[in-house]
Amino acid sequence: MTPKKAKSPKQVLIRFGDMRVGKNSDRSKRTPTVRKIKSAIVPVDRFKVPAGGRPRVETGGAAVANLGAPNVVTPTLAERAALDRIDLTVDIAPERGLLLTNPILVASGTFGYGVEYGEVVDVQRIGAICCKGTTLKPRAGNPPPRVTETPGGMLNSIGLQNPGVDAVIDKYGPIWRGWKVPVIVNVAGESIDDYVEVARRLDGVPGVAGIELNISCPNVGKGGLQFAIDRDAARAVTAAVRRATDLPLLVKLSPNVADVRPIAKAIEEAGADAICAINTLSGLAVSPDRTRALLGNTYGGLSGPAIKPVALRIVYEVAQVVSIPIVAIGGVTSLDDVLDFLACGAVAVQVGTAIFADPELPVRLGDELRAECLRRGLASYKPLIGTALPKRTGAPSAKGAEYRP
Ligand SMILES: Cc1cc2nc3c(=O)[nH]c(=O)nc-3n(C[C@H](O)[C@H](O)[C@H](O)COP(=O)(O)O)c2cc1C
Repeated sequence: MTPKKAKSPKQVLIRFGDMRVGKNSDRSKRTPTVRKIKSAIVPVDRFKVPAGGRPRVETGGAAVANLGAPNVVTPTLAERAALDRIDLTVDIAPERGLLLTNPILVASGTFGYGVEYGEVVDVQRIGAICCKGTTLKPRAGNPPPRVTETPGGMLNSIGLQNPGVDAVIDKYGPIWRGWKVPVIVNVAGESIDDYVEVARRLDGVPGVAGIELNISCPNVGKGGLQFAIDRDAARAVTAAVRRATDLPLLVKLSPNVADVRPIAKAIEEAGADAICAINTLSGLAVSPDRTRALLGNTYGGLSGPAIKPVALRIVYEVAQVVSIPIVAIGGVTSLDDVLDFLACGAVAVQVGTAIFADPELPVRLGDELRAECLRRGLASYKPLIGTALPKRTGAPSAKGAEYRP
């Protein structure tokens, strides 16, 4: 899914090239190829104070002294210097080193390969780019329709459409090599051998800073059981990729399990450098005439603000059982969301679905986090991490996954 046209930061029209449906289908009259993804995520006006009172910070600037004032103004030189001194750097793979200039990343599948947004966003100011899911061979993806809006989010079943790892390396490697922003390649596969081979090919490619394993994929050898929902399979695929590459290795959890903690622990034991949480929740939409499932692939992945409480719960649980860094993902649309995830133990966050409505959001969140630190008198954002976790050190949550109202 590649956004073709960005009209303005406030209203971005996304062309889902894959959304065309059969000419004779009734839905072809009603499902446009160009859609607005904006009901769940309201594009922000950077120059207005939101209802909560905290002013938005203009990209490239801040106005800490004016917090609470009606409008954002250009910071003075002294304010600028104070903001620049705030340390937002974070190493999300401390064993191998994957140092980011700030903890706001963009999530796989929502920012293409980074190049697509070059004209609307200063991509070099993003903490890191997780590119589209990449497989060993090219994949055409799932039958259309592939996306639909839902209250508070969207459902997608893109089906990992991508040109294959060799084409990705050839086309984007030379571009990424010249970038300051680290690019983390999101890797998917149908077997452990698939994952391993993709990792091998990426290993040592200039411009590839790390690998994020999307293990929410069916393991064809195990009857289609997803790696992410089976502790042993998650452990095995992580260990095999770990042996195949020295690149920083991030592994992405699925929320579609009863208790994610044993899976997260297995991934850590298998040698992952960091955990990303979460991927989309399994969902379904029904066709307007109610004769079938709406999406061509029947099921879709739910994302956007609707999933934030689930993501928060999982980050909260996982933070209490692993010691490697956690990168949070799920429904981030504002600085408050970032602060919530940090408080629950994440060291960084990824912005996904919200980018479709507001491509500059990831950059602006970095600026807003910087301003928030200055407002609180912090030299770094690190004291904001883990503040909401239970205070008993070493004691796992008693109200984690077993708490099912
Ligand atoms: C259109 C779309 C495509 C996605 N493709 C991938 C993918 O290829 N690999 C992956 O690991 N996650 C993929 N995701 C999941 C996101 O990276 C992210 O985990 C999820 O959307 C939750 O974050 P959000 O609520 O901020 O969107 C995709 C999400 C969307 C909306």
